[in-house]
Amino acid sequence: MCGIVAYVGSQSALDVVVAGLQRLEYRGYDSAGVAIQVADSSGQWSLATDKRAGKLVNLEKSLAQAPLPAGTAGIGHTRWATHGGPTDANAHPHQDDHRRVAVVHNGIIENFAQLRAELADRGHTLRSETDTEVVAHLLAEAFEGDLAEAMRVVCRRLDGAFTLVAVHADAPGTVVGARRNSPLVVGVGEGENFLASDVSAFIAHTREAIELGQDQVVELTADRVTVTDFHGAPAEVRGYHVDWDASAAEKGGYDYFMLKEIAEQPKAVADTLLGRIGTDGRLTLDELRIPDAVLREVDKVVIVACGTAFHAGMIAKYAIEHWTRIPCEVEVASEFRYRDPILDDRTLVIAISQSGETMDTLMALRHAREQGARVLAICNTNGSTIPRESDAVLYTHAGPEVAVASTKAFLTQLVACYLVALYLGQVRGTKWGDEIWAVIKELSQAPKQVEQVLRTMEPVRELARSLADARSVLFLGRHVGFPVALEGALKLKELAYMHAEGFAAGELKHGPIALIEEGLPVVVVVPSPRGRSILHDKIVSNIQEIRARGARTIVIAEEGDEAVVPYADHLIRIPVTPTLLQPLVATVPLQVFACELATAKGHEVDQPRNLAKSVTVE
Ligand code: F6R
Repeated sequence: MCGIVAYVGSQSALDVVVAGLQRLEYRGYDSAGVAIQVADSSGQWSLATDKRAGKLVNLEKSLAQAPLPAGTAGIGHTRWATHGGPTDANAHPHQDDHRRVAVVHNGIIENFAQLRAELADRGHTLRSETDTEVVAHLLAEAFEGDLAEAMRVVCRRLDGAFTLVAVHADAPGTVVGARRNSPLVVGVGEGENFLASDVSAFIAHTREAIELGQDQVVELTADRVTVTDFHGAPAEVRGYHVDWDASAAEKGGYDYFMLKEIAEQPKAVADTLLGRIGTDGRLTLDELRIPDAVLREVDKVVIVACGTAFHAGMIAKYAIEHWTRIPCEVEVASEFRYRDPILDDRTLVIAISQSGETMDTLMALRHAREQGARVLAICNTNGSTIPRESDAVLYTHAGPEVAVASTKAFLTQLVACYLVALYLGQVRGTKWGDEIWAVIKELSQAPKQVEQVLRTMEPVRELARSLADARSVLFLGRHVGFPVALEGALKLKELAYMHAEGFAAGELKHGPIALIEEGLPVVVVVPSPRGRSILHDKIVSNIQEIRARGARTIVIAEEGDEAVVPYADHLIRIPVTPTLLQPLVATVPLQVFACELATAKGHEVDQPRNLAKSVTVE
């Protein structure tokens, strides 16, 4: 939700900031703007700004037509609108009446209406509909030569979630940032420093980063980084080295990040397994930091997550309950804390989040910790808020995921969930035996199997193109195939803007079957015929039921499953794998299907309308 970047050093701040915004555009893309500190020939400092509604390219065009004077310190923003529509006036940066301050913001300032009224009473003129603009005016009032101090004064007056970054014409060579409940990372270079919503904005310049903590203010000059709390007390900071480089955040020859990220899945899965399965087949999750004795006492697991991560959580529930016999609940994070859930110190809460910044998930985990539960984060972003606030973290190693629609992060979340479930089984000795050993072996085959699926996707792409004019697509599954069906529908909604719904196949005849009409495409995820074959038989009947009513059936089934052949208008084969692990291979064709269908419709695959990658508001 909104991307922020700031620079102070010796390079052209505008070039660094615009390049950073290009990398952050996935966070929001309905307007963009910059402010650069510039000096005139007589040494008078001012702020040169430009901001435009629409994608970053509009700002770039405007800057090409009317270049800003050069400067070596500046800030930039790419917006996902909350207060006020995506117009030039509402685009960030926002300024005070005298245009001496410029501020960019991510989050929501909840008491902005009251602050706005107070400012109006004191004679300020507010020009936008945003909550952010009040901060520019408040900073101008509080500034007495020290911008960091002014920021601290202002932050103490703000309610809500915010990352703020500001420059002042009378504080040349200084950029100031602040954060509460919203991400902000410092990039530490040599003779230059950076601030950004995430490291991808400055990774081309430095891989040394500092994660700001809650309620901290940072002051940057070219050779100094000073961090305090909101009252000016020096703050402890944690620096870290980013273990991927700029090329990981490039398209690498693919037309879209999403295509690249789909193709990277075998490696992402392999990297997430790496070092976690011992040669004796036992799991080593030393990083968990929750003692085995505590894990043995866990009597309930609760999973909280949003969107695609929630679907990973639904699949985890099947695995955890089957392999450990611990009751497991899974809930969308945005609903969790409002229903007064029953939690105690024997509850293990698992918060799943790619970004580590999703506000709904963060609030759910805070609530869980307040009730005494232990929280384990499954997260893809080192140093982000969710793992920092959890008791333990299991990182997924998907690398940076830039496309808004999650693909490789999802598969690695599944791997992490399986590892946690198996590990709980291992430490508790529950059901630990032949089945678990076999599953661990199968899990280590997953990268190869995903690779195999990717090699056979051309017919899926062709099918997707042929369905570009379909009005609606349904997805059916049973057992872990049900969350896979939900995930397939979510991908299609967000990328192709089509009506798409996922159902538990058994629920169909309780209502949704009324939707089936002649030619309606219905994707069915078929469980393995081996093992739990009753599931398989049931879904084969479901396919016959919908086909009898005119549906065009698109069947995803295991190699060698001949029972489905007579009822499949289109058959997509996936490798043989235990049912619980099947989502790792069954989801891939659905990702490819949605991506290709959206492309056929001419949509922007990496940046679907109305969305943003990291949802940092509730
Ligand atoms: C869908 C998608 C979203 C995210 C959700 C949670 O493709 O990407 O549904 O999964 O917003 O995000 P994280 O995992 O960052 O908490």
